[in-house]
Amino acid sequence: MILPITAYGHPTLRKVAVDIEADYPELQSLIENMFETMYAAVGVGLAAPQINKSIRLFVIDATPFEEDHPETKDFKKVFINARILEEKGEEWPMGEGCLSLPGMNEEVSRQPEITIRYLDENFQAHEEHYKGILARIIQHEYDHIEGILYVDRLPVLKKMLLKGKLRDISEGKVDVDYRMIFPRLRKKIR
Ligand code: NI
Repeated sequence: MILPITAYGHPTLRKVAVDIEADYPELQSLIENMFETMYAAVGVGLAAPQINKSIRLFVIDATPFEEDHPETKDFKKVFINARILEEKGEEWPMGEGCLSLPGMNEEVSRQPEITIRYLDENFQAHEEHYKGILARIIQHEYDHIEGILYVDRLPVLKKMLLKGKLRDISEGKVDVDYRMIFPRLRKKIR
C-alpha cells in the first residue's frame, strides 16, 4: 500500500522518533508499505516520520546509484532503533534531495564515515561501518528520525534564500506526482 508522504512543515518531521519493540503492530507490512511508497516516489530512502510515524525506522535501497557507485549494489536494508555511534573525516558536499521536499536539491556537507548500530527487520543487531555515498544516504535518513531535515544543514544565507520555496511546499504549492500531506495546504493541486 502506498502511503502519503509528509511535506516540509509537518510537525512529525520535527520530532525525535522513539524506539520500537519487536511486537510493534504489523511491523512487517509497515516495512513493505514503506518500500512500496519509496519506490513509487522514486526515492532511495524513506524514514517513518515521512509517513507520519514518529518511530526509529527507515528503509534504504541504494541500488539506483550502482552504475556510478558499485558499493551500492544490492544495498537494500531496513534500519530499526538505529544509533550513529561515530562520524568522522573531513566534511564533503553532495547534492541531496528529499521526498518531503519535492522539487529541491541542494549541496549538503557531511562527514564521510560513520559507524552505526541498528536492528534489521528480524530484530537482529548489527554494528557496521560505512563511507561515501552509503554513509551519506544513511546520515540523511538518520537525520529524519532525529527530527532534522537536510535544509537545516545548509548555510544560513542559503536557507534564507529558500524560505519562499519551503513555504510553498508546506502549503502544497508544488508540482509533485506522489501523494503528500501538506501541513498548511492552501489550495488543491489537482
Ligand atoms: Ni529525506
